[in-house]
Amino acid sequence: MARNQFASKFGTMAAIAGSAVGLGNIWKFPYVAGQNGGAAFLIIYIVISLLISVPVMLSEFVIGRRGQGNTYRSFINSSGKKAWGTVGAIEIFAGMVILAFYCVVAGWSLEYIIQSIGHGFGGMTYEQMSVTFDDFVNGNRPVLWTLIFLAMNCVILAFGVSKGIERCSKFMIPALFCILLLLAIVSCWQDGWKEGAAFLLKPNWKAVTGQTIIMALGQSFFSLSLGMSAMTTYGSYIQKDQSLVSVSMIVTGATVLMAVLAGLAIFPSVFTYGVEVTSGPNLVFKTLPPLFATLPGGRIVSVLFFILLFFAAITSSFSLLEAGAAYISEEWKVAGKPVTRVWALVILFFTVGALSVICAMSQVSGSTLTILGWSVFDFTDMFTSNFILPLGGIAACVLVGWLMERNVVFNELTSDGQFSAKVSGFFFWLARYVCPIIILFMFINGVRSIERPKAAPAEEIAPVVAPVQSTSVLDVAADEMEVVFDPNRMIEVQGENAAE
Ligand code: PHE
Repeated sequence: MARNQFASKFGTMAAIAGSAVGLGNIWKFPYVAGQNGGAAFLIIYIVISLLISVPVMLSEFVIGRRGQGNTYRSFINSSGKKAWGTVGAIEIFAGMVILAFYCVVAGWSLEYIIQSIGHGFGGMTYEQMSVTFDDFVNGNRPVLWTLIFLAMNCVILAFGVSKGIERCSKFMIPALFCILLLLAIVSCWQDGWKEGAAFLLKPNWKAVTGQTIIMALGQSFFSLSLGMSAMTTYGSYIQKDQSLVSVSMIVTGATVLMAVLAGLAIFPSVFTYGVEVTSGPNLVFKTLPPLFATLPGGRIVSVLFFILLFFAAITSSFSLLEAGAAYISEEWKVAGKPVTRVWALVILFFTVGALSVICAMSQVSGSTLTILGWSVFDFTDMFTSNFILPLGGIAACVLVGWLMERNVVFNELTSDGQFSAKVSGFFFWLARYVCPIIILFMFINGVRSIERPKAAPAEEIAPVVAPVQSTSVLDVAADEMEVVFDPNRMIEVQGENAAE
């Protein structure tokens, strides 16, 4: 039975880069990099990505392409043991949970596209933006947008892997790149351009500690969509004549490039107006919009920025939803008949949608939808980031490095001898020895750093810069801690050329 496949090389890259480049890259990475040594962090990040994340990604690709099935089936097929299916199933489940809270945040970007088209945010203060955002999050519209976003995903995926995911990614990823480039260029008009660029790019080796390395690894893992069934599923769609090693290197490079561009688009404005540097939803929904309004073509810049956020989010969510859709359509049977792809998507729309609604509602202030003191939203983010991702990564490395036959793995890595065995050998060695140990270390560290004050009332929080160490990779969970504005530095942003 012929399985789905990506049709072209560029389409494969676009889809995989689409999964990788997401909200984490845009609102978290530049901030973390700036706070932790600028170019020094970037160098560490790239080295860590090459030494740890790329081998993990390759392992997931090998499992997927060799296994030729959804993540659950691929783990079984590649290992020859049914028990390994459990790892795949857990990853798929975690992916659906991530998708649920991802949809909530992506829904916010849809609201803000409309708002910036409607009136722009010129002349608004941070306080006004906060009130607007909090009112919005406390209302019903987030639920609606979340479901609209999920429905868009389902409709696009219903067209299939190459006609749906690949075709959209081929358009959205280059568009995303162009918008980022444009925003970075327009940002050069801001007086704080040099300061902004220096924050991100000036190396400060003093800021680098052991913790920095762990943080770089966690960020790189989430950013490259590892340990979450996304890359294993996409791996099963990569054609045999494509080099897995090149795909993973190019995607990693593109992801870093986009994250740096995002920083160059964002920080010049932040420094021009002397507002505190921050990350996460605070950055994109409260701080940035009025600052962007001061740029030439203010309102268009705002609209483009939220479109960018939307493209980044939807191409990432494709990979998660696809993992679920492939699983249901390939594994489930109703009355002896396989569930079709469309029905699988309908099932996912209702189940993931229900979870999304719970996540969205748990964000409402005073909500009782909590788990162990966290809001459901924050809990899912924290749990998947700290537990499932690293364990999924270790499992992939152990399976490929130790349990699968060496020549089978090499046949995949070199596409039956078409590509360099030396480079493949190097990555194989890393996956076998280095990755499991380092990731285990990251896992232990992540679990140990979990207990932190939860959802303290805003008045009790000292005005500090956003925490450098966060239990959430996406940075949503850390949001409540980020009451970051020093009133003395707070200035009203009066955008002269703000679009009215
Ligand atoms: N890589 C995406 C980001 O940076 C998130 C993601 C994680 C997507 C896991 C799919 C799977 O935002």
